[in-house]
Amino acid sequence: MGESVLQMRNITKSFYGNKVLANIDFDLQKGHVHAIVGGNGAGKSTLMKILTGIYTKDSGEITVAGKGVDFHNYSDANAAGIRMIFQELSVIQTLTVVENIFLNHEEKKWGFNDDKAMQDHAEKLLAKLGIDVPVTEKVSNLSVGYCQMIEIAKALSEDVKVLVMDEPTASLSDMEVTQLFKIVRTLKSEGVSIVYISHRMNEILTIADEVTVLRDGKRIITEDAKKLTISGIINYMLGDAEKNAFEYHEREKYHDQSAMIEIEGLCVDNLVKDVSFQVHRGEIVGLAGLMGSGRTEILEALFGIRKIQNGTVKIQGKSVDLKNTKKAIASGIALVPEDRRREGLVLSHSLKDNLLIGLFQRVKTKLLIDERKLRKISEESIKQLNIKAENIETTISSLSGGNQQKVVIAKWLKNDPKLFLLDEPTAGIDIGAKGEIIKIIENYANQGNSVIVVSSEISELLAMCDRIIVLVNGKKSRELTRSEMKNEEIIQHAIQG
Ligand SMILES: Nc1ncnc2c1ncn2[C@@H]1O[C@H](COP(=O)(O)OP(=O)(O)OP(=O)(O)O)[C@@H](O)[C@H]1O
Ligand SMILES: [Mg+2]
Repeated sequence: MGESVLQMRNITKSFYGNKVLANIDFDLQKGHVHAIVGGNGAGKSTLMKILTGIYTKDSGEITVAGKGVDFHNYSDANAAGIRMIFQELSVIQTLTVVENIFLNHEEKKWGFNDDKAMQDHAEKLLAKLGIDVPVTEKVSNLSVGYCQMIEIAKALSEDVKVLVMDEPTASLSDMEVTQLFKIVRTLKSEGVSIVYISHRMNEILTIADEVTVLRDGKRIITEDAKKLTISGIINYMLGDAEKNAFEYHEREKYHDQSAMIEIEGLCVDNLVKDVSFQVHRGEIVGLAGLMGSGRTEILEALFGIRKIQNGTVKIQGKSVDLKNTKKAIASGIALVPEDRRREGLVLSHSLKDNLLIGLFQRVKTKLLIDERKLRKISEESIKQLNIKAENIETTISSLSGGNQQKVVIAKWLKNDPKLFLLDEPTAGIDIGAKGEIIKIIENYANQGNSVIVVSSEISELLAMCDRIIVLVNGKKSRELTRSEMKNEEIIQHAIQG
């Protein structure tokens, strides 16, 4: 047993009479990584938001370094050396990288902000994290992966004793995860204690010393990571619930193998360079690559968010001009974006109203909205995707991260697109629901629709794709057929160029 840095005892929390944590105990040792795992809505983020003063507990005790504490807000927790990297990214889009990193704790000289010192410091932090982006860049120009890295840099810009990482790797590819783990190991060796929340089981066993499993607000077990296996953890997580391990199932080829989309010589903003490929009806094609390889930019260009500088796109044989989102939707294209907060959902609205945004065509009778039809479709979505929400009037901001992601998928599926563009569709989704979502995507393709999917989880691409296109620095470097996709290493090797 190491030296205990914090203890949580008998923590209980309800939201509007709905108990989401019941008598939870949690311990953290100095220089250890303690992982918390559990299905979507199990209570992981809530427990850590209680620790960091963001939510108040209903009852229970928290002890830090041997002293009872009661943090009333996040700054109280910061003052005690406790920081959190939030699942829902908290970087401010209109600020630069360095401004975000030092927001609320600017470095000063003679009472003024010392820009030079902050830039130097920020550059060092980013170099340590292995990311190559100018510190004066506006965050709104960066992809989610980079935003995650900036969150991490922000947390490390001050002294920390306890660092809570709530799904820090949701949109990082394996190489970036490796880099992050190096940093986690350095922090450990410096005596920092880390709480690590992730749905990626292989990460848990690689990095954690202890694992706590939560299910429906209850602690199922806390165990030494060395004594656990992935399937053992999944069993604790899901209990008797259906376990949908995801593995590739050979699918019948759709009878009409004509091209759904033909992309020729696509160039986008210097980030995508002369990329050509086709996707056939009934086919699921993956785009694999590292952060900055142009994956997301291809999807955004096809959805009319980014300007296509050069190249042609045909949908079912006809040239289309995808100059804005409206045109893309009219051509039968839908996008589930990487960052649901930026583009996918209106957080302050109800689940039902968010579905409505995608459903307009189907529930509109003349100018009136058919409320009954909308309710019915909303309730079907909750069932079909197993969304954990009180009811369809629940506001999106009160759903757990993974459940928010399911609403984005539901929103677009219900609109019957022909070509579905998915950017990290299962980021933050628990392992039980992942298999479910992959099945839904396969069924969708089986009906003659097509899918282009970006995922930084190779295992997920392997589980659903009929073909993988590998991108390196904005160029197509390889195309892997199903028979060439033998294992993760082959793809891993390919994406590194
Ligand atoms: N601000 C809030 N208001 C009302 N309910 C909330 C709020 N925050 C969380 N909840 C509810 O508490 C439960 C636990 O949510 P929490 O976000 O802790 O889950 P989680 O384990 O982090 O899940 P995920 O893996 O999806 O992120 C969920 O049922 C969620 O809807
Ligand atoms: Mg969470």
